Amino acid sequence: MGIESSCDETGVGIVRGTELLAHALSSSMEQHVRFGGVVPEVASRAHLEAMVPTLEEAYRESGIRVQDVDAIAVTCGPGLTGALLVGVAAAKALALAHDKPLYGVNHLAAHVAVDQLEHGRFDRRVGALLVSGGHTEILLVDDIATDITLLGQSIDDAAGEAFDKVARLLGLPYPGGPHVDRVARGGDPTAVRFPRGLTGGRDLDKHRYDFSFSGLKSAVARHVQHEQRMGRGFVVADVAASFQDAVCDVLTRKAIAACLAHDVDTLIIGGGVAANARLRHFAEERAAKAGIEIRVPRMGLCTDNGAMVAALGAEVVRRGLPPSSLDLPADSSLPVTQIVAA
Ligand code: KG4
Ligand code: ZN
Repeated sequence: MGIESSCDETGVGIVRGTELLAHALSSSMEQHVRFGGVVPEVASRAHLEAMVPTLEEAYRESGIRVQDVDAIAVTCGPGLTGALLVGVAAAKALALAHDKPLYGVNHLAAHVAVDQLEHGRFDRRVGALLVSGGHTEILLVDDIATDITLLGQSIDDAAGEAFDKVARLLGLPYPGGPHVDRVARGGDPTAVRFPRGLTGGRDLDKHRYDFSFSGLKSAVARHVQHEQRMGRGFVVADVAASFQDAVCDVLTRKAIAACLAHDVDTLIIGGGVAANARLRHFAEERAAKAGIEIRVPRMGLCTDNGAMVAALGAEVVRRGLPPSSLDLPADSSLPVTQIVAA
């Protein structure tokens, strides 16, 4: 069984190996909409209220009770500390009450592991591009339970965060990614040439697989202000399409380059931004040219959920790794190289 509570989704998943048996989810997203972003205290409170009903839903869905599971895995980081603590406390209570081994696992590794529920076990090294409101990473996965290397990450805003901030500049609702995606379909992606951060010269040498989106966000703000000052008004669809192209171009270019440089022929894409039509288009086009296979789990498994935690937990158990201790802490900045907490 896997429990997830690192951000605004309370998730409980149950798996047997790579077979998905339960995928129960409760989201506090609506409570954050009017603030234009996730409010940590509101998210923690919502986890507290949703935890027991979500556990019960997972038991109902699978016909399995906590007494029947072999182990309990929980996201112990990275994420919002208060939110993480709710899941960690619930998992500890269940583990202690039912005498089950407890595994504190890494949220980022779980985002990759979940693909195995959909497309089967990784039989060799794979690459992963994680893109959501909280993370933007390129990972090299030699073994999902024991060996992950961080190749690059955003040095400022996460990709989804950039979508959300630009949506706000364009007067679109939160969360902005799906709205930018929709509006951009009617726009010209070549209308405005926005900057591609860390893609040239010394920046590229120093940050080969890293990303930067804050300059892009500022460029969109400057463009919008400039057009308004000139009394021209701007075409929202064109700005959205041009911005989206800049993000998706860099994400896919760097992810494919990382795969080629590390002898990887399979790239997993996960996180909420994986829903983006332009990102999928670029990824598929470029991967096909490079002879790389793209694997994207279905959307409900790409965004935060408990099944991904269970999927990783199952791999950890399969390898016979030692359980975490009952005084396992929540670690908001747990590095991706630490897949299971001590
Ligand atoms: O994985 P997720 O549901 O939650 C976490 O952040 O962990 O990702 C949410 C992010 C938001 O920033 C949202 O705007 C973005 O994913 N997003 C998209 C699309 N759908 C969701 N961004 C671009 N295009 C989309 N279609
Ligand atoms: Zn996530």
